[in-house]
Formats: sequence, structure tokens, C-alpha cells
Amino acid sequence: MKEMRTHTWIDDEIDRLDQELKRDIELGSLSNEELRLKWTGRKQGLLKSAFDEMMTRATTVEEKRAVGQSFNLLKASVENRIAIGEVSRSQRGMLDVTLPGTSQRLGAEHPLIRTSAEIVSVFQRLGYSVALGPEVETDFYNFESLNFPPNHPARDTQDTLVIAAQDAKPLRDRLLLRTHTSPVQIRSMIDGPPPLRLVIPGKVHRNEAADATHSPVFHQVEGLCVDTNITFSDLKGTLDHAMKALFGSSVKTRFFPSFFPFTEPSAAVQISCIFCGGKGCRKCKHSGWIELLGCGMVDPAVFQAVDQRRIELGREHAYDTGKISGFAFGMGVDRIAMMKYGISDIGLLYSGDMRFLEQFA
Ligand code: FA5
Repeated sequence: MKEMRTHTWIDDEIDRLDQELKRDIELGSLSNEELRLKWTGRKQGLLKSAFDEMMTRATTVEEKRAVGQSFNLLKASVENRIAIGEVSRSQRGMLDVTLPGTSQRLGAEHPLIRTSAEIVSVFQRLGYSVALGPEVETDFYNFESLNFPPNHPARDTQDTLVIAAQDAKPLRDRLLLRTHTSPVQIRSMIDGPPPLRLVIPGKVHRNEAADATHSPVFHQVEGLCVDTNITFSDLKGTLDHAMKALFGSSVKTRFFPSFFPFTEPSAAVQISCIFCGGKGCRKCKHSGWIELLGCGMVDPAVFQAVDQRRIELGREHAYDTGKISGFAFGMGVDRIAMMKYGISDIGLLYSGDMRFLEQFA
């Protein structure tokens, strides 16, 4: 049978010391070094003086042995708890002003995200809402509904990355990586009747070789405005305002005839060179102008494709070309970011190089 030890004055003293240590650790006003000095210091430590006192008080050999054993245990526990206290206090984030500081590195918005958000907010201030769409699209939304007939040469201007093993499906259902944000125009019009004023940011993909100004992955911001009596003047006024808001009020815009299957008429928009103010420099190839985006009046064939799909889905005709009209535009975010921040190689935006990204913090 194990011998039963009775509770003695030695246990009372050890408990008292134990409680005092607990209070000291929890209070947190002493550093770990100070705690160690106070409790386990060789000459003036509390344990040492308490041990001496108790040894003097102990009268029998058994009592002296019990004091010795209890103290050995207490000493180990004190060391241990000071060390654990150190960890938990640093986990609670308590400040030890004797330690060297740790510097926090600030994160920063990626220049592409920042530029995209800036463009979006210019249009939000004009009352536009934000719409988003999928990056993996069907041929119908990316091409067919936007008036790119099968085998039409205009499809070659947007060299497409397709999802494998789709040949068994009809062409319009085959999946691809969207080559522009324009399919979200169609999705939005099928979803709801006019009036619409939408701005659509997003990532797009083309099967193109990378060089200083081309990337196979890039970003666009699309715009769509559909209502009664929307004219080309509205388009010009809106884009002129947006370019001034983005690049400064002295920037001028000009519109050139262009071609997109889904707008008629179509235009390319140039802004006066922000580097030389229009005098001519290397950046604008000495022309004084920089081309920034494509735009035009929504082609009636697009409204018809939308309405046809709405009927297939059991929705009402809403895009009657006799009653409504609209404009659309699409701009490359990467090239705008490059101009705004003086970035000479588009690849830097996708490199993940911290030395480049840190400049935007
Ligand atoms: C389009 O993608 C049309 N969807 C734009 C549009 C929308 C026209 C609505 C009319 C109405 P485009 O292929 O030109 O158009 O591309 C638009 C912009 O994307 C270009 O001006 C350019 O800034 C950018 N871009 C095109 N290819 C690349 C590329 N490989 N790398 C980086 N930016 C590119």
C-alpha cells in the first residue's frame, strides 16, 4: 500500500509561493529577465530565501527532506512557467519595449486592379452599374450573338484559346476563353430590359505571342448604354469626359472610323499624347496622338440576337430597334495602366516581381 502523506505547513508554504508566482506572471509588469531574477536569482531570489527560512523551521530529518523535495519540484515548475508565460504574453501581443521592433511590410493594390477600379469609378459617378461575366464563355456569347458569323474573317482578329474536346457540340455551345468583355453586354441585355448603363471590368485571353505591348492574358473595361434616343454625340461626350477624368482635363479626344461586327458605325478613339501634350514624341510615334479604345453604336443585329434569345427563354421582346438605341465601348486596362504609370513592358504586370510591385505601395 502507498503511504498517505498528510498536508503539512510545508505544503502551505509551497502553495503560497505558487500563488504569488502566478500573480506575478499574470500581472505582466515584469519582463522575463526580471521575473527570473526575482524568483530564481542565486543570492536574492525569492526561492532561495524561502528555502533557507523553511530549512531553519524544519526540525526533523523527514521535514528537512520534504522541504528539499518540494523545493526541487517548485524550482522546475517556476522555470517552466516563466518560459510559458513568455510565449503566451508574446502571443497576446503584449509589448516588451526591451525587444527590437519588427517592421510590417504594407501590401499594395496591383496597378492593374487600381487602374481598372479607377476607370470603373469614373463611370459609376455617371450613374453606371457594374456587371460581371464568366471567363470561360460559349461561342454564342463571345462571337455569334455579337454578329461574328462562323468562319467570318473578323474572328481571326481575336485569336481564340478554346477548351479541348468540344467538337461533338454545336459550334454555338462550344467553350472558349473569352477574347473580350463584350459577351457580358449580351448576357446583361438578355437578363434585363433597357434602360441599361453598365460598366464591365474583366480578364480576357487571346492566343497571341507576348511582346512589350501584347500579353496573352490582359484586362478590359467594357461600357454599354441602351435607352431611347441614345446618339453618337452621347458616346463622344461620355468618352471625352471619361478620358479627361482619367488623364487630366487638358487631354483631347478624336474619333476615327473603325470596324467591329457588333457596332455600326464603329470608331477608334485616340487621345492627345499625355507625354508630349500633342507635339509629337517617341511614345506617340511622333503623331501627337495615342489610340486607346474601340467603340460604336450597338448594331441592330445585336439587339435582334438578344431579343431572339429572350424569346427562347420565355421573356418579352425588349430591344425593339425602332424604339431604342445604344452605344458600347471597350478599352484595354493594361495599356492604360502602362501609360499612367510609365511602364514600358506589359510583362512586368504579370511577373510577380516584388521589386516592381513594391513601387506601388
Ligand atoms: C475589342 O476587344 C472590342 N470588344 C472592343 C469594343 C467594345 C469595341 C465595345 C466596340 C464596342 P480590340 O480587339 O481592339 O477590341 O481590343 C480592345 C483593347 O484591348 C485594345 O485597344 C487594346 O488596348 C487591348 N488589347 C488588345 N489585345 C491586347 C493584348 N494582346 N495585350 C494587351 N492589350 C490588348
